[in-house]
Amino acid sequence: MSLILGIETSCDETAAAVVQDGRRVLSNIIASQHDLHRRYRGVVPEIASRAHLERIGPVVHEAMEQAGVTLPAIDAVAVGNRPGLIGSLLVGVSAAQALAWALDKPLIGIDHVQAHLYAAQLLPHAGKASANGESAIDYPALGLVVSGGHTSLYEARSPTDLTLLGRTIDDAVGEAYDKAAVILGLGYPGGPAVDALAQQGNPRAYDLPRSLLEPQSLDFSFSGLKTALLYQVRGRPRGRGRQAAFERSAHDLTDAQRADLAASFQAAVVDTLLIKLQRAFDHLESQGRRPRSVVLGGGVSANSLLRQRVAQWGPEHNLKVCIPPLAYCLDNAAMIAGLAQVYLDQGQTSDLDLPAMATAAC
Ligand code: KG4
Ligand code: ZN
Repeated sequence: MSLILGIETSCDETAAAVVQDGRRVLSNIIASQHDLHRRYRGVVPEIASRAHLERIGPVVHEAMEQAGVTLPAIDAVAVGNRPGLIGSLLVGVSAAQALAWALDKPLIGIDHVQAHLYAAQLLPHAGKASANGESAIDYPALGLVVSGGHTSLYEARSPTDLTLLGRTIDDAVGEAYDKAAVILGLGYPGGPAVDALAQQGNPRAYDLPRSLLEPQSLDFSFSGLKTALLYQVRGRPRGRGRQAAFERSAHDLTDAQRADLAASFQAAVVDTLLIKLQRAFDHLESQGRRPRSVVLGGGVSANSLLRQRVAQWGPEHNLKVCIPPLAYCLDNAAMIAGLAQVYLDQGQTSDLDLPAMATAAC
């Protein structure tokens, strides 16, 4: 039996988890900072890193307590060290370095985006299923990471062997959701608010663009959709920049219009994601590299319509559908600890001077 303590502080969630044998989640503590950032309708980096500093100690303590494990019983300490907000990453990395050094255990630095694509492997502690070595994801897999910071397609030959196929050239899809929520006058974070409202609206009420780029492109672009939504809500602007005056404001919308706009926006986003999944699948198949699974990860994989459409699309292409349980879609440390077990088994650990990196190679 192997136990790994995972730490995650790349953005605005302070998280720690204990995972057994790479899959069984013994604890998964997440201290969200949404309340601190809500009034700014986005994450303020300085506030985030200060809050991580205050919370990291109690969060690690609670993760150990809930798992019923003492620190000396841990086999390794894992931390998301890239990519993310540098001031936030530094808090988690420093804590993990200190623990690994004090406990004399291996330290394992983990790529946050890779970890999102591992999350579907995790088994909830309370779940009946046993971690009997059977892999939830059949490799090779087609992976889609959709979060506040990333929208990327991968060919995954194993949890640690990924090739980037395409990525957003402007906004990440979660970022587009958060901005759409601001445009529609909804709360923060925007994704869940738009998703909930969309379920009451008509997705065909407004014709919003599906930006597909060149015919073969596996990249994404969501900034045009965001602008189209803005113009639909407020009319065309007169003037530019800060001087721009719009014809109306979001307050002029009726509840029904707001729901229809949310539904039309969500339909445009999910259509675009599905078209790109199809393109990536066709591309891999034409190269003789047909995937066996489709894997989702990242906060937007909590989206109701995306989950539904991918669950339908996968079997049509003979693909096993691997979507994380809701608890493991958003930022969490269980995915960090779980993926770290794969690296530990491969004998790949990090030096104690592991750097925090704002950007990552893949
Ligand atoms: O993975 P995550 O927790 O953090 C990053 O690594 O960015 O993703 C957060 C993003 C936010 O933009 C949030 O609005 C979005 O995920 N999100 C959703 C939903 N739940 C969270 N977007 C659409 N529908 C949802 N249900
Ligand atoms: Zn994330």
